[in-house]
Formats: sequence, C-alpha cells, structure tokens
Amino acid sequence: MLINTDEISAIDQELNTKQPKQIIKYALDKFDNIAISFSGAEDVVLIDLALKAKKDIHVFSLDTGRLHPETYAFIETVRKHYNIDIELVSPKAELLEPFVKEKGLFSFFEDGHTECCGVRKIEPLKRKLSTAQAWITGQRKDQSPGTRQSIPVFQQDTAFKGIDEALYKFNPLANWSSEDVWNYIKMFDVPYNPLHQTGFISIGCQPCTRPVLPNQHEREGRWWWENEGGKECGLHATNIISKS
Ligand code: ADX
Ligand code: SF4
Repeated sequence: MLINTDEISAIDQELNTKQPKQIIKYALDKFDNIAISFSGAEDVVLIDLALKAKKDIHVFSLDTGRLHPETYAFIETVRKHYNIDIELVSPKAELLEPFVKEKGLFSFFEDGHTECCGVRKIEPLKRKLSTAQAWITGQRKDQSPGTRQSIPVFQQDTAFKGIDEALYKFNPLANWSSEDVWNYIKMFDVPYNPLHQTGFISIGCQPCTRPVLPNQHEREGRWWWENEGGKECGLHATNIISKS
C-alpha cells in the first residue's frame, strides 16, 4: 500500500485529535500486516488497547540479550496474561559473535552505544520490519524533550523499509503523558514491569538504564554517560532525520 505525503499528513491530522484506542483501531483496520513493538515497559498499554480492538494481533520484542531479568519475566507475564504470542527477535549470531569477540560485553561505556545498538537492536528491527507494512510503537512526546516532542501520530518511517518498500509507523500514545499511561494501567489493572516500583521510569537494556532521581527527566536514566545524539538508539531514527 502506497500512501502519498498529502494523505499521510491528512491522516495524521485526523488521528491527532483521537484517543489511543481509536488510533490503534484505525491502524489495525487499515493494515493487515502490522506489528506492535513492545519493549517490556509501560508500552504494555498498547497491547491492552489493541486487544480491545482486535483479537488477532502481532506483537514483537527485540531481545537484545541484555534486558533486565525482570523485563524477561514481565514479557512472559504479558504473554500469559493476554494469552498472546510475543515474537522475540534476536541479534544475528554472525554479527554479534565477532562484535563481542573484538570489543567485549561493555564497549558502549568506552566508545558509545551506537555499535552495540546497531547489532542488538537496529539490524533485528530492520529484519523484522522488512516483513511488515506498518508498525505501532509506544513513543510519546513527553519521553524525550530533545527528540520526541514533535513526533506525529502517523508517519512514513523513512529510516526502514517494509514489505512493500514504503513502511508506515503509528505512535498512538504520542499525545499521552506518562500520567495518562499510568492512570490507564491502574484503571484497567494492566500488569506492569516490577522495575517501575524501584525507581525506573524509562526501561531499556540493563547495562544502559538506571533509575532516576526525583525531578530528573526519565530520559536521563538512559545512556547516562553520553550526551550526544539526543539519547536515541536508532529504532526511532525518523525523529532525528525529521529534525535535521
Ligand atoms: S528506545 O529507542 O529509547 O530504546 P524507548 O525505550 O523509549 O525506545 O521505547 C519507545 C518505543 O520503542 C517502545 O514503546 C517500543 O514500541 C519501541 N521499543 C523500544 N525498545 C524495544 C524493544 N526492545 N523491543 C521492541 N520494541 C521496542
Ligand atoms: Fe547494547 Fe546498551 Fe544498546 Fe542495549 S542499549 S543494545 S546493551 S548499547
């Protein structure tokens, strides 16, 4: 399916005034081959909302091999709670093994996260998205003032290619705040990652995420030893491309 630029901005404008539930329903109705990307954090609300719109959904997580034990356990909790499949996409051994052999397990503390994220997250995501028409993410504007404050609800993802070449991306939670997400979790008894009870707000890989102090922005707990690149790992490269 090819959607031209004018149509994309018309759809985005229309969806921008809608609630996440309506946005997800629109996404699931429009594309047969659409995948929900679940990081194992509070983006679990995407799954809860999607299942209210459609029984048969496709969820995947990028298993970097470096997630917290709590996050792995939580992915299992979600799988069982909703009785759904969650596809775990792993890094390619032929890229990972030479990388670790050459650089060890913590090279990101010395020369930045780009290379490790490239092997453990970006290549697997690229491979996964090449089989889909569109994907749904849990990105929100309030997650990162530097890179996410103007993310659209609907966009073409020019950083990756889909099965029909063009790939589309929905960010149904874009206009929700963290408070909105947590109100939803509490109101509907949605299961959540226990790390959130110990000071973690934003959750990524274990070595690269730490809890934040009161009044610190959630993004400051990610790749805290780095300041460059707006603390994005490349999954959402369109945020950087569209800013430059
Ligand atoms: S990241 O790019 O900095 O790692 P973030 O943790 O803010 O992303 O999560 C934003 C959204 O990106 C998530 O809601 C999810 O849709 C997607 N995402 C992030 N990490 C993963 C992962 N490991 N597996 C699947 N999707 C992910
Ligand atoms: Fe590697 Fe850290 Fe990126 Fe995870 S977040 S892929 S451990 S650099």
